[in-house]
Parts: sequence; C-alpha cells; structure tokens
Amino acid sequence: MTSSDIAIDIDNVVKRYGAFTALHGVSMQIHANEFFTLLGPSGCGKTTLLRSIAGFEDVNEGAIRLYGNDIAPLPPHKRPINTVFQQYALFPHMTVTENVMFGLRRSGWSRIEAATRADDVLKLVQLSNFADRKPAQLSGGQQQRVALARALAPRPKVLLLDEPLSALDLKLRQAVRVELKQIQRETGIAFIFVTHDQEEALTMSDRIAVMSSGHVQQIGTPREIYETPINRFVADFIGETNLLNVTVQSVSEGTAQVILPSGHPFSCPAATVNSDGTGHLSVRPERIELCPAGGGDLDVKVESQVYLGTDIQLHTRVADGEKMIVRLQNAQSTILPEIDTVVGLKIEAGAARLLAD
Ligand SMILES: Nc1ncnc2c1ncn2[C@@H]1O[C@H](COP(=O)(O)OP(=O)(O)OP(=O)(O)O)[C@@H](O)[C@H]1O
Ligand SMILES: [Mg+2]
Repeated sequence: MTSSDIAIDIDNVVKRYGAFTALHGVSMQIHANEFFTLLGPSGCGKTTLLRSIAGFEDVNEGAIRLYGNDIAPLPPHKRPINTVFQQYALFPHMTVTENVMFGLRRSGWSRIEAATRADDVLKLVQLSNFADRKPAQLSGGQQQRVALARALAPRPKVLLLDEPLSALDLKLRQAVRVELKQIQRETGIAFIFVTHDQEEALTMSDRIAVMSSGHVQQIGTPREIYETPINRFVADFIGETNLLNVTVQSVSEGTAQVILPSGHPFSCPAATVNSDGTGHLSVRPERIELCPAGGGDLDVKVESQVYLGTDIQLHTRVADGEKMIVRLQNAQSTILPEIDTVVGLKIEAGAARLLAD
C-alpha cells in the first residue's frame, strides 16, 4: 500500500468540547475507492469525526491528511470533500436539475458546464426522468438520490455520508443501500459512511471502524468484525451473540483452555482476556448444534421459541442461570425440541472466542 492509495489519514485525533473529550486519539486510514463505515452507538463521536474531516470542527491534537497533505489550514469550502447529511435540505422552489447545478454555479462553473454535469450525475443516480420536478413531487428515496447527486456533482475526492438513509422506511432503505454501494463503485470515490445500524454496515462496507465513547474499538472487513471481534463490546454490538462467563485455565499462543459453566473443558481462540483471568466465551447463535442431553459441551433447558421466518430462535438456559440463544435454520428437516426439555449444545470448534470485557 503506497501513500497515494490512502485518501484520508486520521492520525491520533483528539477533539474536546470544553472539559468533555469527544474523540480520544482516533486513528484510521481510509483508502481511495473504499466504502468505509463508522459504526457505533449514539454519542460515540461519529458525527464529530466527520465534521472534523469536513472542516466544520478544528481538532485539538493530531492531524488529518488528504492524500498525504495536512488539511488543517484549508477552510471547509476549499476541501475537495463533500457531505450528505441526514437532513438533506433540497431547495423546494428549484427543480431537481437546478438543485444539482446550484453549488456548481456558485463555485464558478459556467451554465453549460454545470448543466452537462447535472445531466451526468442525474443519470448516475437514475433520476434523468425526474430532472424537471420539484422536490415535493419526489419520494423520500428519490429526494435522497438528488442530495447524493448534488454532493457528487463537483467531483469530490471524498464523500462523507452522515446517516443519509435514516429518514427512509425499511424497504426503501434496503433498495437505496444497494444503489449507494453501486454508485460508490462506479465513481471510485472514497465514501465515509456513518451509521449506527449494524446490518447496514455489514452489507455495504469494504471496511468498518467500530467506535464507542470516542475510541476506535476495531477496524476490519465486515467478516473480520463479525467473526473475530476483539472484545465484548464489538461482539455484542455486531449481530447477536452469546457471552458465557467462563473460567480461564491457560492461554498460550492465542488458544485458551477454559471451563464452561457445565464443568466441561473447552479449547478456543483467545482474542483478549481480563487481567484477573476471567473472560467471556462469545458464541454466535448460528454456530451451535443441538444434540441429546449429555452429548455436547453443555446442557441447557429450552425456555421458548421465536419464529423468524427464515430461522427459528431457541431461548435456552444453562443450569447456573445464564441464557444461551440458538438459531436453527427453518428447514423441513429441522426438529425442534419441546419447551422445558433439556438438550445438549455442541459449540462449533473455532467459532467461539474468548473475549475480555
Ligand atoms: N458542540 C458540542 N458541544 C459539546 N458537546 C458536543 C458537541 N457536539 C457533540 N458533543 C458531544 O460529543 C459526543 C459525540 O457526539 P457526536 O454527535 O459525534 O455523536 P454521534 O456518534 O454522531 O451520535 P449519533 O449517533 O447520536 O448521531 C456526544 O456526547 C455529544 O454530546
Ligand atoms: Mg451523529
């Protein structure tokens, strides 16, 4: 990887609001052509980081570089970076084309150049047939795409998107997700996309940075984040997971020997262990198999079933009271245990991980 492949280099950025620290030394590198997502709960600093990249906030420490150059001296309008906000505020009295042309004209494009470019970007977002409409005559998803076209029009090097889909209903959001990802691929621009929706992050991103309380917890591909989370927070935040309290006997070369609540010894990859030698065994519900009681790694009592269409979720409990969720595919051959019966659980080797708090 050469430095020219890195579009944005965020280097140890600290951002304080008075006595409150919103970003505690955040570092990440976003590659050119990458769909990069910032994922984390409300208040973790996602918008603050985007606003710092865009230049609406000055950082207290650290640097942000665009293709190798520190952008601190550049005011927002001089940065080749554009933002699509959650509230995408189109001008209601202007047509779609006029909305897209407006910013271009203000930054000195001729009428002809701006009109040609507006045609091109409206084609890209598949709105050519709506060019003469006013925003009020468009659906939410179409308005969202006008906002996207407007942001792409000046050919930014980086596009920042702050929860741009949150105003849309689920079906529309799913459709726009696919389009957005396709547009990113076609334009080859680095997208930095903010969401607190883990499904959105997993389906769209090349890489994800998981954040909490102003810290980066983990950066990786969707598969890495889901399958090899580095701590309890990440495992818990991404998808559904079981976190069993276990006693750690030994850890050597990344493999832990632990004792399950059933008393069974169990060997698994260890990501992190608490300093007091305790840890949590993280097991995804779809990586567990049912077997007769006594025949698996631990026995559980079935408490309830939840029908999810494609899957069936079993809520079960270990003898010491801990909950375990098991997901079974809703296939014709799936045999469901009765409520209140005791069954064995086999944890898929390698699919469980020992994690610190
Ligand atoms: N101008 C400000 N003055 C003081 N504190 C602020 C300011 N802006 C943000 N904060 C605080 O900084 C923290 C991070 O805010 P930020 O808006 O970046 O969160 P976020 O991750 O975007 O959350 P959300 O998902 O709710 O949009 C929050 O605790 C917030 O209250
Ligand atoms: Mg925000």
